[in-house]
Amino acid sequence: MQNNETTSPLIKLAGKTALITGASRGIGRAIALRLSKDGVKTALVSRNKNSLGTVKKEIEKKGGTARIYQFDLTSVSEIGGFVKRVAEDFGGIDILINNAGLADSKPFEKTTEAEWDRIFTVNAKAPFFLCKEALPYLVKSGDAGIINITSVVAKKGYPDQSVYGSSKHALYGFSKALAKELQDRGIKVHTVGPGGVATEMVTRVRPDINSDNLIQPEAIAEIVVFLLTLGGNAVVDEIDVRRAGKTPWA
Ligand SMILES: NC(=O)c1ccc[n+]([C@@H]2O[C@H](COP(=O)([O-])OP(=O)(O)OC[C@H]3O[C@@H](n4cnc5c(N)ncnc54)[C@H](OP(=O)(O)O)[C@@H]3O)[C@@H](O)[C@H]2O)c1
Repeated sequence: MQNNETTSPLIKLAGKTALITGASRGIGRAIALRLSKDGVKTALVSRNKNSLGTVKKEIEKKGGTARIYQFDLTSVSEIGGFVKRVAEDFGGIDILINNAGLADSKPFEKTTEAEWDRIFTVNAKAPFFLCKEALPYLVKSGDAGIINITSVVAKKGYPDQSVYGSSKHALYGFSKALAKELQDRGIKVHTVGPGGVATEMVTRVRPDINSDNLIQPEAIAEIVVFLLTLGGNAVVDEIDVRRAGKTPWA
């Protein structure tokens, strides 16, 4: 008979450290605020120091701990040094949330090589190397998790989102291979694939969607907490989230 602690289906988050990319606004901001509420120390990453500072203040006002890191994820060769700095500041990394993303809204034949490179770098290449550089710290954690925020476009094709869609297919495919490579090292890898969420991104690339019908970023943050806290012998690899108005199981 196991004791209650070993059979508990919930993992405690308090005291863990999470590196969250794209934490300056939208879904990343909501995830950072929600994890902080459960006592997670957050490393907030984006290019915009001022916006990150605002999120840090929101977290601290509620008693949480956050540090900001102004970093452009297209500087892939600097990811190693950057991750090391975060790990040294916090004494480790337990959770990596690859959330930062860029979307396009353009016919494929009008897309330039530079645009393709930029979107693929932020959405697929940077998460790959963040996982690689964070790996030694995640292994040390003993109870680590990686969450890659994909999208409904990771499994479907949408016109004028050819680069965005293919980069998210790449991130989704990487996540599946990674989950298998890391299983024996005690690191769980999950994907969360939302449909339209009420953020700046959707306003820019899908102005056709009525904003009343969008998913709230806070709902995605709750799903992230669910995935990170589900313990015992139960693991959920991926969660796809549709807007309530969309056809179920489509
Ligand atoms: N909104 C949706 O409908 C939706 C649906 C499915 C999936 N998603 C995915 O959810 C994630 C978050 O999207 P969101 O809707 O919250 O978008 P958002 O409001 O546009 O936020 C994007 C975040 O990514 C950061 N970012 C972009 N380029 C970066 C770079 N080069 N270096 C560092 N940070 C960078 C931005 O920070 P700075 O600009 O401050 O650098 C910002 O914090 C993305 O991966 C997106 O693809 C969104």
